[in-house]
Amino acid sequence: MAIKAPEGTRDLLPEEASFWSAFVERAHSIFGNYGYEPIDTPIIEQTELFVRGIGEATDVVSKEMFTAISGENLKRLLEGEKLRAKSRLSLRPEGTAGVVRAAVQHDLVPQGAPPAKLMYAGPMFRAERPQRGRQRQFNQVGVECLGAEDPTIDAEAIIMLMRFFDAVGIKPESIRLLLNSMGCEACRPAYRELVHSYLEEHQDELCETCRIRMEMNPLRAFDCKVETCAALMENAPKITDHLCEGCAKHYGHVKELLDMAGIAYSEDPSLVRGLDYYTRTVFEVQAVSSDSAQNAIGGGGRYDKLAEEVGGRPTPGFGFAIGYDRCVLTLQDQGFAFPAQNHCDVFCASMDDETHLQAFHLAQMIRDNGCSAEIDHQSRSLKSQFKLADKLGARLVVIIGPEEFAQGLVKVRNMDSHEEQLVAIQEALVYIMEQL
Ligand code: HAM
Repeated sequence: MAIKAPEGTRDLLPEEASFWSAFVERAHSIFGNYGYEPIDTPIIEQTELFVRGIGEATDVVSKEMFTAISGENLKRLLEGEKLRAKSRLSLRPEGTAGVVRAAVQHDLVPQGAPPAKLMYAGPMFRAERPQRGRQRQFNQVGVECLGAEDPTIDAEAIIMLMRFFDAVGIKPESIRLLLNSMGCEACRPAYRELVHSYLEEHQDELCETCRIRMEMNPLRAFDCKVETCAALMENAPKITDHLCEGCAKHYGHVKELLDMAGIAYSEDPSLVRGLDYYTRTVFEVQAVSSDSAQNAIGGGGRYDKLAEEVGGRPTPGFGFAIGYDRCVLTLQDQGFAFPAQNHCDVFCASMDDETHLQAFHLAQMIRDNGCSAEIDHQSRSLKSQFKLADKLGARLVVIIGPEEFAQGLVKVRNMDSHEEQLVAIQEALVYIMEQL
């Protein structure tokens, strides 16, 4: 049986692979205007980074990580030996922890320096149950800004993200922006306790998972999709009613800046996000066309404690990640199709072995001059070479026939106007380049 791609992964075929490159290019160009520079961190990191950074009790770390193991270490494990922490590696489930680790390791935010604004793009891995919009390998484009806690960073990044969605063709009316504040270490513990007590009071109405969440991570109950839990959580205490003065002021400032920029958002006090590192601002952009649990096309927030969690000095941070694959689904729901990629300026057709050699040589010279050229590689008839040239969208076809060639000539056909011109072989290249 033919081998297929693993479940929850997908191939980006040429048209989509080109679109993915263009998507990343567009991000570089737009985010570059806001000062974001590229960074590329390993796909594999020490498991400990994600345990400490994202949080042991999160679904992502407790259930969804792919742990990578070398043959040598697997043997050790099977022989009953324990692995050293350093040898425990995982495929990255997200990009933030790795970028913050790199910033700490290379001291990218020295004291007193302006914030480091970093962007990345690439595959992330989560062992989730695959379904539409939920994969085990998916692509993200993300940004992280490290070293500033000013709300202008939060608002600037959210505005930048909305501009990006607009630029790639995701219509403002097909998405909604949800905003919340998660508080900080001063106000969240007391709020967490309030939610815990609320859940305890209603524990008979909770699903089994939420009963576990109640003890481990009560705020995660806000994310429960079970109807009875969702209904119950609507009346749960709201974090925005329990923010400390500093957090309330910060949140107010972010909203004011978004209002000033004309960015529409809805406040959603139940937006808690699935990663433990968030403090203060959190947000998510959801596709309105999809009412599934996989409708978030991007999200992020502030994480002022993460650098310390991974061993660095206090460094506030803010960032987001865009789910490329879900953006594509949203675009396709709007009627989008990947642009065709066939691109050929000149097709060099030939009729026998000798002229085939000339076609090969001429095509090479055209490419060396910066244009695209193709020849036949399958001994096709002249008629089917023309069909192929048409399919490739060639603007010119050069026909190198034995009779003309014997007289030192080639024929150049303009595929739009159908005009043909006999040209001396030595002048063919110059003539072709002038026509393009
Ligand atoms: P996240 O919300 O876990 O945040 O993921 C960001 C986006 O990645 C989601 O909104 C979604 O579009 C996409 N995504 C997540 N899981 C999957 C999946 N299994 N299949 C397809 N797409 C998926 C983060 O990853 C944070 N690191 C964002 C961040 C950056 N926060 C601060 N800085």
